[in-house]
Amino acid sequence: MKDCIKNIKGTKDVSFEESYIWHYIENYINSFFQRYGYSEVRTPTFENTELFIRSIGGDTDIVSKEMYSWIDQGKNTLTLRPEFTASIARYFIQNQLHKKNPMHKIYYVGSSFRRERPQKGRLREFKQFGIEAIGSQFPEQDAEIIAMAYNFYQELGISNLKLELNSIGSKESRAEYRSVLKTYLQKYKNDLSETSKKRLEINPLRILDTKIDFEKDIIKNAPKIIDYLNKDDKKYFSSTLDLLDSIKVPYSVNDYLVRGLDYYSQTVFEIQSNLLGSQNALCGGGRYDYLIEELGGKSTPAIGFAAGLERLILAIDIDNILKIVPDIYMISIGDDAIQHSFKIAHQLRENKKLNIVNDSLRRNMKAQMKDANRLQAKYVIIIGEEEIASNQFIVKNMNSGDQKKLSIDKVIEHFK
Ligand code: HAM
Repeated sequence: MKDCIKNIKGTKDVSFEESYIWHYIENYINSFFQRYGYSEVRTPTFENTELFIRSIGGDTDIVSKEMYSWIDQGKNTLTLRPEFTASIARYFIQNQLHKKNPMHKIYYVGSSFRRERPQKGRLREFKQFGIEAIGSQFPEQDAEIIAMAYNFYQELGISNLKLELNSIGSKESRAEYRSVLKTYLQKYKNDLSETSKKRLEINPLRILDTKIDFEKDIIKNAPKIIDYLNKDDKKYFSSTLDLLDSIKVPYSVNDYLVRGLDYYSQTVFEIQSNLLGSQNALCGGGRYDYLIEELGGKSTPAIGFAAGLERLILAIDIDNILKIVPDIYMISIGDDAIQHSFKIAHQLRENKKLNIVNDSLRRNMKAQMKDANRLQAKYVIIIGEEEIASNQFIVKNMNSGDQKKLSIDKVIEHFK
């Protein structure tokens, strides 16, 4: 092991033992989002760095210290995507999708990269999935997205979900609130952490979601954004909440939820689970009505959310997920049997539902049987010289222990 090259810190292999869980969840993601009329889009893993700077914001943690960026041989400055919203907006603008349809409902699944400090539920390469609804400026779209996020986890049986929402208003409401908040925080400037001191000048709203206890005490009495929303913003937010009430999605309004990406306006939300430990955000999202225009597209309202797959796996009850096991394990003893087994497996595979494992190590009978047990195979078919000569093959049910001898035609028939 001395000179063995290891995986990079903060990245993860998905092992054979775990892959069935990933398949289960990836299948669930596809079917769940498609049920709501969303279609998948796949964008490249890397983009021009400028796309993320302009979307997420230069002063955010992601852009200022977490991006994997490099200059390639052609002197292009490139970045591994730290999230998908920017790429989806780029895709939307580049393909002039607004001309094709007034509404686009998109979902995505793939790796994202952030150079954060790795810990449970926090990786440097993680799988993100999410949805973006581009085109609607109405609260029913907000309510649909939030309800989808909530139902997504609920249907998977994850309990103790905490859905928090807030409105950070339109640009105008936020500008007024920003100056009131700044004045309030100025009084405590000397007590703030170095990071918050910097944020006070650039983006004081970010101090609201501080994780530091003494700053939380300061925030407790800070002015609330809800009191500075204009009439339209307030009406918009309450219509969204009414719709959620009408389908009994439980939520709480967190006056200080702001989220760490610059493109948001109006509704923002997060779902947490106490099963996760300190990295407790299962997903987060919000409205981003100005992003597409700011990236050079036609002004188009949009809202979405994204979630981490590894965090979902930490919260899910794995025992409820059916493990994929072989239906049949072919055991072959002797040279002739190898050829027969190869052919019979081929014939059996015409039934595309069957999962069949053929031994390829020429092991003895005992070792093959042990392997079939290890894989929890439902049946074994035993093929030896005697079985070939008599055209009677042993089919053994590994659960009940029952076994019968069948001719080759009957074996095929049996598994049809
Ligand atoms: P975000 O809150 O930065 O939002 O990330 C969304 C989710 O990705 C988090 O709630 C978490 O589950 C997962 N996640 C983030 N960083 C890591 C990490 N280092 N390791 C594991 N999981 C992680 C966004 O990315 C926005 N694009 C969401 C959005 C979509 N807003 C509108 N549309």
